[in-house]
Amino acid sequence: MIENINNILPPQPGPIGVFDSGYGGLTILKDLRKRLPAYDYLYLGDNARAPYGTRSFELVYRFTLQAVRHLFSQGCHLVILACNTASAKALRSIQQRDLAGLDPSRRVLGVIRPTVETLASISRTGHIGIFGTPGTIASRSYEMEIRKLRPDFVTHTHACPMWVPLVEYREAESDGADFFIKKDIDALLAPSPEIDTVVLGCTHYPILRPKIEKYIPQGINLISQGQIVAESLADYLRRHPEMDAKITRGGSASFLTTENADRFADMASVFLKSPATAQTITLS
Ligand code: DGL
Repeated sequence: MIENINNILPPQPGPIGVFDSGYGGLTILKDLRKRLPAYDYLYLGDNARAPYGTRSFELVYRFTLQAVRHLFSQGCHLVILACNTASAKALRSIQQRDLAGLDPSRRVLGVIRPTVETLASISRTGHIGIFGTPGTIASRSYEMEIRKLRPDFVTHTHACPMWVPLVEYREAESDGADFFIKKDIDALLAPSPEIDTVVLGCTHYPILRPKIEKYIPQGINLISQGQIVAESLADYLRRHPEMDAKITRGGSASFLTTENADRFADMASVFLKSPATAQTITLS
């Protein structure tokens, strides 16, 4: 039984929670801070248990729920699952099953729906390619969301099990990365030359973008999610002033990780191009 966190915390304003299995959500955080710089943000990376992409539905759901509860307990009223795998495998259950017991006034939002809304207006051929983790691809979340919005579109998906480990193990710039990136791009595009729009459907993948651009044919729209999610959040907060009022405005970002704090801070500051001090926490 999940306790109601209203019993633990008074409802004071807090930062926007941003959750990912590891470093990938930093690609979203970066654009959130650029688009909405006034707010405070609390980032949580479950680096100790990443990658999520090869884990079962049940585990991704359980880990994500633990993370959401932790961010709520730290005062976040709004949590963004800056992770496609968690959005695909846990978001709906948390929204429909758990939120009522935790605190029905809080919100958890994902990254898949806003991405699909954007790509629907970009593609000319109606053939969309999706790269994602094995978990995201197996969930068929992109196909389902695209079908709802554009039943005339054809979705082609391809799982890239090696791409997240390349980022988490800091091999994103190595020669070894080229091999896997080229192989996966060929596997998606060779059988489906009509594809004109490719979604990097994992928040880790923009970290590999320089190498992806090297192998993706010119003329294909390559979509990363940071700006899309930032624009969608700005729109959400405009439409929900009651939530906007519950977010503190100090322009800060704080970082939590389930792994070594120095290692995380090191990677985060390189990636965000600003100092990042992290604190290690345990999720349960
Ligand atoms: N960055 C995540 C995503 O968008 C998670 C990747 C993983 O942990 O496998 O799917």
